[in-house]
Amino acid sequence: MKNLKNALLLKQLYQLKQLGYAYTSANIYKEDAQDLTLPNTLENLAKQAAQCHLCELSKTRNKVVFGEGNPNADILFVGDAPGITEDSIGKPFEGRSGELLTKMIENVLGLSRSDVYITNMLKCRPFNNDTPTPTQAHTCQPYLLKQIELIKPKLIVTLGSVAYHYLTGDDTDISKIRGTPQQQNGYSIIPTYHPSYLLRNPSVRKEVYDDLLKVKAFMQNKS
Ligand code: URA
Repeated sequence: MKNLKNALLLKQLYQLKQLGYAYTSANIYKEDAQDLTLPNTLENLAKQAAQCHLCELSKTRNKVVFGEGNPNADILFVGDAPGITEDSIGKPFEGRSGELLTKMIENVLGLSRSDVYITNMLKCRPFNNDTPTPTQAHTCQPYLLKQIELIKPKLIVTLGSVAYHYLTGDDTDISKIRGTPQQQNGYSIIPTYHPSYLLRNPSVRKEVYDDLLKVKAFMQNKS
């Protein structure tokens, strides 16, 4: 039966050859296939992100904002997406919310910015500073997950609801969940408000301060 099938197939191939079709290696796509795994160093991951064209934001961005800080940081801060200043400089949290984040790190945690690692859920600025769409967030997420895998922080502090929601899949309102340690795939997360929310709503200052004290206490328990 198998021989008959092969003979018929061969006959068909000869007919196609007579019609002028040329033989093409069936492995052509395999040979050209790219390695789809992400690099295993932050440096190479940043290089790959810099060339990324996986979503439409690559058409409007000026710079990919990969993240910066201590590659062995114990604390990783994750915001939502670069703004206009970050997009032109290529570094996260450079504008007013960045200044506030720096003060939070220095004045409450007693650390310097270079002790921690700072990045965003999205590595490119959303057009018009729009809220990241689910497609953009899911497309960009492998970069963040790989950063987490490589940095291995003891604690991730998510800034605002976007980073928290996409990292955990949890839709709980940020006002209810903030300051409460969460476990996700073996890493710990403490969510708090985004510094730009704090700039617009100075009344949540006390809550953010309390959340950072929890971050501090969490880190002291870990050391
Ligand atoms: N807001 C963010 O979430 N990230 C930045 O880098 C700047 C503003």
